[in-house]
Amino acid sequence: MALWGGRFSQGPAQSVAALSRSVDFDWRLAQYDIRVNVAHVRGLTESSVLSREDSTRIIDGLIALSKEIESGTFSYNDTDEDVHSAIERGLIEKLGTLGGAFRAGRSRNDLVVTDFKLYIIDHIMEIAQTLTLLVDALNRVADEYKGAIAPGFTHLQHAQPINFGHEIAKHSHAFLRDVDRIQDWLTRNSFSPLGAGALAGSSLQPHPEKTAHELGFAGPLLNSIDAVSDRDFVAEALFIFSMIGIHLSRIGEEFTIWSTTEFAWAKLDDAFSTGSSIMPQKKNPDIAELARGKSGRLIGNLTGLLTVLKGLPFAYNRDLQEDKEPVFDSVETLQVILPAVIGMIETTTFDREKMSGAAVTGHALATEIADFLARKGVPFSQAHEASGKCVQLADSLGMEVHDLSDAQLSGVHSDLTSDIRSVLTGPGAVSSRTSLSGTSEASITKQIAQLQSSNKSALESIEKARESFSRMMSI
Ligand code: ARG
Repeated sequence: MALWGGRFSQGPAQSVAALSRSVDFDWRLAQYDIRVNVAHVRGLTESSVLSREDSTRIIDGLIALSKEIESGTFSYNDTDEDVHSAIERGLIEKLGTLGGAFRAGRSRNDLVVTDFKLYIIDHIMEIAQTLTLLVDALNRVADEYKGAIAPGFTHLQHAQPINFGHEIAKHSHAFLRDVDRIQDWLTRNSFSPLGAGALAGSSLQPHPEKTAHELGFAGPLLNSIDAVSDRDFVAEALFIFSMIGIHLSRIGEEFTIWSTTEFAWAKLDDAFSTGSSIMPQKKNPDIAELARGKSGRLIGNLTGLLTVLKGLPFAYNRDLQEDKEPVFDSVETLQVILPAVIGMIETTTFDREKMSGAAVTGHALATEIADFLARKGVPFSQAHEASGKCVQLADSLGMEVHDLSDAQLSGVHSDLTSDIRSVLTGPGAVSSRTSLSGTSEASITKQIAQLQSSNKSALESIEKARESFSRMMSI
């Protein structure tokens, strides 16, 4: 059903209707549209544009429609242009002409952006909650492997041995930052566009504060032109989704490499890997690769929207209809990838021996020699030089630096006494790194406790916000 037509002598050409039609994707907004319309109708009743009796009938009609949409007995049809027209059609089918009374004082311009904001609030909170499950899984693996020693890399070259729990826990920090970004997003974007009308505000519904509060917002936006044009909240959400994607891609890259024959640190569970149609022996890390690959479309959705917004005139322009599909795609992408990655993380086992065997190779303990000398008061530049000489000597003898004898070490620098042996092992090196953010088991134990408590409080506040959102939605 079209919501306009009085001034036209004929309907749109078929090609125009096909281009214009958004209901196939914006139907996802149906329940939010109904909720916003209920708040709007209550506003119209307060300003006496609608009688109490009509308002009750319209709200009852909207509630009935909401149930029919949920049960699948009402949906859009071939003639509906968008979700708003489909819902108005549904209401007119129930109430006759009264069904067309509820859109006084609002436009699709303020309606669509309010619906869409509610959709994002709802889904970004769901994603935040799933992220806390991911962080929880990472924290558990970090805790399980906090005694395992592994090579730590810079430039993808062996650098220093690290605690493998530390390696895993770094991902928890990244995802907790994403959760934090979502919480910031929720605070910054808690302002309702409803009441902005097409662009100039409304003479029929002068109290947008009330509808804003009814819909769970902190208040209304204060400039109607800004209210219908602002899509910063969409771009910011897509940025957050992209950042989550990037963090997932970096996990994906690690699990892919760690499960290669060359590394063989990680053994993926059969349920979280896939086979090859031609090579029977293959067990592929497809979840990790998809986690890496999906970041491409998440970033594409962000750049696509930013390009739509660049240079766009203010108030409403139809270009803005292009804001929705990238968000739906990003949300739905995260809804499938996050549970699979959580499962992969929970079920992968790591080969402690393989990792600790590799941890000290590539002269990875050379920094321990320099640090040992520095602790003895040798200026670091000289300590570094002496350690480099030890590496050179070990290389020339075809051995690792920690395999040099006491005599060979003290031959390079007289302060390299035999007590260096306590740090010249993987565990020794790791346990010496007791700084706050360091890789010693003592530091990582505190770090994991901190991560667990931050994750718990994030989850509590998200659960509370989700509960109040679903209370708001249940009319
Ligand atoms: N389907 C439109 C959108 O998503 C709804 C708003 C249409 N407004 C208009 N003035 N044509 O943006």
